[in-house]
Amino acid sequence: MKIGIDRISFYTSHYFVDLKTLAEARKVDADKYYVGIGQEKMGIPAPDEDVVTLGASAAYPLMKEGELEEVELLLFATETGIDQSKAAGVYVHGLLELGPRCRTVELKQACYSGTAAIQMALGFVARNPAKKALVITSDVARYELGSPGEATQGCGSVAMLISADPRILAIDPEAGYYTEDVMDFWRPNYRSEALVDGKYSTMVYIHALIESWKQYAEESGRELTDFDRFCYHIPFTKMAEKAHQKLCRKCRVKTSREDMQHLLEESLRYSRITGNCYSGSMYVGLTSLLETGEEDLTGKRIGLYSYGSGCVGEFYSGVVQPGYRDVLFGDQHAKMLAERTELTYQQYEDIFHYGVPTDGGDYIFPQYKTGPFRFSGISQHKREYESLV
Ligand code: HMG
Repeated sequence: MKIGIDRISFYTSHYFVDLKTLAEARKVDADKYYVGIGQEKMGIPAPDEDVVTLGASAAYPLMKEGELEEVELLLFATETGIDQSKAAGVYVHGLLELGPRCRTVELKQACYSGTAAIQMALGFVARNPAKKALVITSDVARYELGSPGEATQGCGSVAMLISADPRILAIDPEAGYYTEDVMDFWRPNYRSEALVDGKYSTMVYIHALIESWKQYAEESGRELTDFDRFCYHIPFTKMAEKAHQKLCRKCRVKTSREDMQHLLEESLRYSRITGNCYSGSMYVGLTSLLETGEEDLTGKRIGLYSYGSGCVGEFYSGVVQPGYRDVLFGDQHAKMLAERTELTYQQYEDIFHYGVPTDGGDYIFPQYKTGPFRFSGISQHKREYESLV
């Protein structure tokens, strides 16, 4: 039985900062960001958006099409938790009007948790082929102002329906994974910005890739040349390119600039203008590949590398299914990205300083437009959300 991604929908906020603007403020050459790390824009959530509203907004197109009716498992992957106890997915469950017979839980392991959720959802569907699972990744990447990580901020969410006989990507059973207790990137409970040992994190990312690949290759018998495209976790697009070059070198596969372009470029387009979406970054890459690539990828095998600091890496793969283009949301995503509003440097700082909301009062910012759902405040220590649709 084939199991995998049946639908995929992506959402990011209405606002972005062009990295040219950030470069001016930080007095660095804009090419350090545009070329050096391969990023052009970073998505910034409005003050009344959070992982719940981003996640519900990503899944909303599926809800509108009646695709969520058979969902009996909601796995919500995030590292931008809003509560120490209650799963953010339970708020999303309410906003999406899912039925009560739906298991809901939140998963965390930095940027890797989306892939953990997918693997768990595959197991659920294997045991219950008539049932469907909804995986939502949702994150806001936030580093200190003026820190090296600042240019790699971003935000976004990806909602994926996991089912038998999937219409988009049938996931192969083989996988290779790697866990090691390291401190390359982390966010203690008392901080709203991540801490990172930047250069070290890029080395651990690659080490985990090589180790995950080794296990995947042993299990599957496949070689790097058996893949038509690759999607990597994308903290910034240059990272994915460097990782692929390293993997090719390790496997003694010659890769020209044109090969790199062919294998990776389409998967990097969305991330270059949204920034890091943490748990969803690789899935933003997959969405970008499927929606913006000109070639029909039916029957093609895609290699997928997911990485979460701390760290866990996983290499797995899937085969693109016939008719996949008929069930994508490419036009909607192109429109959403084209209609975003650019923030000035001052607006970016103002939003940054709103910080973490606390109890009392409404959270209304009329100058900022939100998506289909908004966070409306905290009353008696209870978060409140509003559906605008
Ligand atoms: P930095 O130290 O400020 O940058 O931060 P740099 O000085 O190394 O410059 C970056 C690149 O730009 C260099 O190229 C420069 O040469 C080049 P490289 O040597 O790397 O090839 N450069 C220029 N190029 C053209 N024109 C110019 C110019 N100037 C410089 N004028 C760093 C870079 C990535 C460390 C920083 O952005 C950072 O700390 N980012 C956050 C951490 C991160 O994203 N790590 C990635 C791996 S870990 C991961 O992916 C997990 C994560 O998603 C979290 C999770 O799992 O939850 C982060």
